[in-house]
Amino acid sequence: MNEFVFHNPVKLIFGKGQVHRLSDELASYGKKVLVVYGGGSIKRNGLYDEVMTILNDQGMEVHELSGVEPNPRLSTARKGAAICKEHGIDVILAVGGGSVIDCTKLIAVAAKYEGDAWDFVVGKASPKEALPFGTILTIAATGSEMNRGSVITNEETQEKYGWGSSFSYPQFSILDPTYTLSVPKDQTVYGIVDMMSHVFEQYFNNAKNTPVQDELCEGVLRAIVEAGPKLVENLDDYGLRETILFAGTWGLNGFLQMGYNGDWASHDIEHAISAVYDIPHAGGLAILFPHWMRHNVKVNPARFAKLGVNVFGVHPDGKSDEEMAFEGIDNLRTFWTSIGAPKTLADYNIDDSKLELMAEKATINGPLGNFVSLDKNDVLAILKASL
Ligand code: NZQ
Ligand code: ZN
Repeated sequence: MNEFVFHNPVKLIFGKGQVHRLSDELASYGKKVLVVYGGGSIKRNGLYDEVMTILNDQGMEVHELSGVEPNPRLSTARKGAAICKEHGIDVILAVGGGSVIDCTKLIAVAAKYEGDAWDFVVGKASPKEALPFGTILTIAATGSEMNRGSVITNEETQEKYGWGSSFSYPQFSILDPTYTLSVPKDQTVYGIVDMMSHVFEQYFNNAKNTPVQDELCEGVLRAIVEAGPKLVENLDDYGLRETILFAGTWGLNGFLQMGYNGDWASHDIEHAISAVYDIPHAGGLAILFPHWMRHNVKVNPARFAKLGVNVFGVHPDGKSDEEMAFEGIDNLRTFWTSIGAPKTLADYNIDDSKLELMAEKATINGPLGNFVSLDKNDVLAILKASL
């Protein structure tokens, strides 16, 4: 293991009916709240009304920022920061998915900053303070509810980057699986792909002696592989929603990644794709990740073989590590395709005309990845294989 310091300050509130705890959680922060949400799913499933009733009963002064886009945009975060400054907002409440939460993270720090919010995303400035914020999560996918990461798209420059700081952790996150029952099939599949990808990014690392971490990663993946296909066929099954919601949080709350650095190149490549084509994050991952794996098997075939055997049903008898590795990757591909995830860039009508541009964007700050270092040519090869 590498040396590490672990700190995750997010208070996680999980389970049926737990939204009522919102009033206690907000009580200490002041009376002026900005509620941030997306395109209307929370109005359709009743969560908006429930939240507003709680806030009104508490005598809060409520301001709203609606319409946060999937792949949240810089302009929306700027708008949110301006509302906070204009009205002297005390606390922000994100009600939605990873996009709403990521946007809120940037609003929280930008509200306390005189410069432009984009400065934080590109590392031109580091946050020195932030407004407090909490979240009510409505879709199982990113883990943003319990981490400090935030991924923002600058729509003018077609750039999409992740950033994070000790000021971008939510103070609390409320997760009631009930409010994920309305997530449609395609978004449910995307969530499953995203959370699995997060575990892969971490599983592929170069640390030695990580048996506990390996078991945790493989266990989370096995639970998702078991529950995911059943959920896709039974979208209103509360128990399956509960499992997948919890798995999504575990996928990226830092607990799996103690003692090593994950790879994360596939995420960087995907962010370049969705910066240019605005496709769903996990749609891009479903296409890319098996190709990232195939491209890198030779670096450590035993590691890929272990994943295949322990998670993807590969029987080791008489097979070399490479054979097991490739069989495991094929099984992953089959698994994702079977639940309805996209397989090629062509599924999003993406042709070869901008591969060079995307490879350039992905590697603009240098080579990608910690498990394997990829240069622009490697990225281009992975993108070409993904066509
Ligand atoms: O906008 P609304 O109307 O709410 O609809 C959303 C949106 O269309 C809908 N949805 C959410 N909850 C729903 C629901 N529909 C019905 N019922 C519900 N209960 O789902 C759609 C997608 O929502 P979004 O928030 O975009 O999904 P997700 O949580 O997958 O977030 C994706 C974003 O997170 C970033 C991605 O790059 C992407 O921008 N990521 C953030 C990470 C982080 N902060 O740690 C890590 C990830 O790897 C990822 O990069
Ligand atoms: Zn992701």
